[in-house]
Amino acid sequence: MTTFRENQFTSTRNSPLYLQLYSHLRAAILSGELKRALKLPSTRALADELHISRNTVQNTYRQLTDEGYLESVKGSGTFVARVLPDPLLAAPHRTILKDPLSTEPKAHQPLLSTRARVQMALSEVSAARAPANRGYPRPFRSDAPALDRFPYEAWSKLIVRQARRLSRRDFPYQPSAGYRPLREAIAAHVTITRRVRCTPDQIIIVSGSQGALDLTTRMLVNAGDPVWMEDPGYLGARGALLGAGAQIIPVPIDQEGLVVEAGIERVPHARLVYLTPSHQFPLGITMSLGRRLAVLDWAKRADAYILEDDYDSEFRFAGRPLAALQGLDEAERVIYIGTFSKVLFPALRIGYLVLPPSLVDAFLTVRRLMDMHTPMLEQIVLTDFIVEGHFARHLRRMRKLYAERRTALLDAARDLPLIMQSSPAGIHCIGWLPDGMDDQNLIQKAAIHGLELTPVSDYVIEPLARKGLMLGYGGFNVQEIKNGIRRLAAVMHSG
Ligand SMILES: Cc1ncc(COP(=O)(O)O)c(C=O)c1O
Repeated sequence: MTTFRENQFTSTRNSPLYLQLYSHLRAAILSGELKRALKLPSTRALADELHISRNTVQNTYRQLTDEGYLESVKGSGTFVARVLPDPLLAAPHRTILKDPLSTEPKAHQPLLSTRARVQMALSEVSAARAPANRGYPRPFRSDAPALDRFPYEAWSKLIVRQARRLSRRDFPYQPSAGYRPLREAIAAHVTITRRVRCTPDQIIIVSGSQGALDLTTRMLVNAGDPVWMEDPGYLGARGALLGAGAQIIPVPIDQEGLVVEAGIERVPHARLVYLTPSHQFPLGITMSLGRRLAVLDWAKRADAYILEDDYDSEFRFAGRPLAALQGLDEAERVIYIGTFSKVLFPALRIGYLVLPPSLVDAFLTVRRLMDMHTPMLEQIVLTDFIVEGHFARHLRRMRKLYAERRTALLDAARDLPLIMQSSPAGIHCIGWLPDGMDDQNLIQKAAIHGLELTPVSDYVIEPLARKGLMLGYGGFNVQEIKNGIRRLAAVMHSG
C-alpha cells in the first residue's frame, strides 16, 4: 500500500495511533484512493510496514469493519467494502474535514461518537441546503400540514379540561407502552382505516415516527448490518439507520415502488428494509400489490424485517383507501409506524409502533432505558380528541381541503417549465426540472423570494438522471399557492 509513509504514525497525547490510522484509512476509502473491493494488506504486513503494533492495526480494521467501510472474508482477508456505509459521507468538503478523529489540530472539537458523527454529516447536508427550514412554514415547505385549519379551540378546551383533572395519581412513572385508552383508540382506527391487523397490546406510543425509527434501529440493527433503503428516501430514516451503524444499501424506485429484485441482487440477506409503500417519500409513488407481495416474500425468506412508515396515508383523494402492507403480512415481518405529525401537527410529537407480538416485550424493556414513556397529558388529550369524534371530523375536512389545494397547485403550475408528478395522495408533489436546470441555484434564488423548496437530490444516494423539486401544498391556502407559483415562475424565467 503506497499511501503510507514510514513513521507517519506517531502516537501523541491527543491522537493515539489507532485513531490516526483509522482516520487515514477511512479518508482514503471515502476519497476513492482505496478502491472498493480492494484487498488490504494483512494486519501483520501493515504493522511491519508502518512499524506499529499488530494490535493497533487489528483494532483499526475491526472498527472500520464494524462501521461497514471494510469487509472481512474468512480465509481470504480484509477488503474495502463494495457498498460504503453512506455515499453522502464521501463528499470531501463536508463533515469529513471536521472529523474529530482526523489528525488535524482540533483543540476546540469534542471527541464525538461515530454514531453522532455520521448523523451530523447527514444533517449537515440537508440543513446546509435548506437553511430556511425553521420557523413558520413558507410556500412550498413539503412537510407542513394545514396549521391554518387546525381546530385550535376544540384542542385547547380538551387540554384545559384534562389539566384540571390531573391528580397525584398521574405524576409517577407510567407504562412505557403508553396510555392504554390511546392504544385502544389507535388500534381501532388503524384496523378500520388502514386494515392493519393488531391488538392494543402490540402498540407502543413513541415520540413521533422519529422515536419509532430510533427505537427500532436500536433493537434490530447491528453495526455493519446491510439494510435496504428506498433511494431516494427519507433522511429521518437514513439518519436513524446510520446511527445504528447500518450499511445502507440503496434500492431504486420505479413506477411500482421499491424495485425488490434490485435489492435482492445487491444484497439478498439484508437485515431490514425501510419502506413508505402508501406514498413513497419523496416521489409519491404507491407500491403495487405485486411488489408488496414480493417484498413480504423476500422478508420471510431472508428472515428480514420491513419497516413500514405510513406517515401520510390518511390523505388519499381518489379511489379506495389503500390497505397497509402490515395487513398482508402472514409471517410477522412488518413493523408498522404511524404518526400524528401530518394528520394533526408535528409539534405534538406522538407516533406509534405496531409490532409483531414476539417483539413487544423486548422493545418495552429497551424503551425504558431511552425516554421511559411519552408525556401523559398530550396522550390523554389526544385520546379525547379521537374518542369524541374530533379526529375523524378533522380528517374528513383535511382530505377535502388537501384535494382542493393540490388542484390549485397543479392548475397554477401548468405554465411553469416543470413536469408535475402527483399521485392523488399526501400533501406534496414533485416538479421535475427541464434538462440542464440547476436545482440548487434555483432553490437559493427562490429562497430570496420567500419560497421554501426542497430538491429531490437532497434525498438521493445514487444520483438520479433528473433534477426535481418537492412542492408541498398542504400547509398553504389557495391564494398563497397562487402567489407562490407566480414568484417561482418569475425566478425560473429570470434564468
Ligand atoms: C417519510 C416521513 N416519515 C415520517 C415523517 C414524520 O416524522 P415525525 O413523526 O417524527 O414528525 C415525515 C415528516 O416529514 C416523513 O416525511
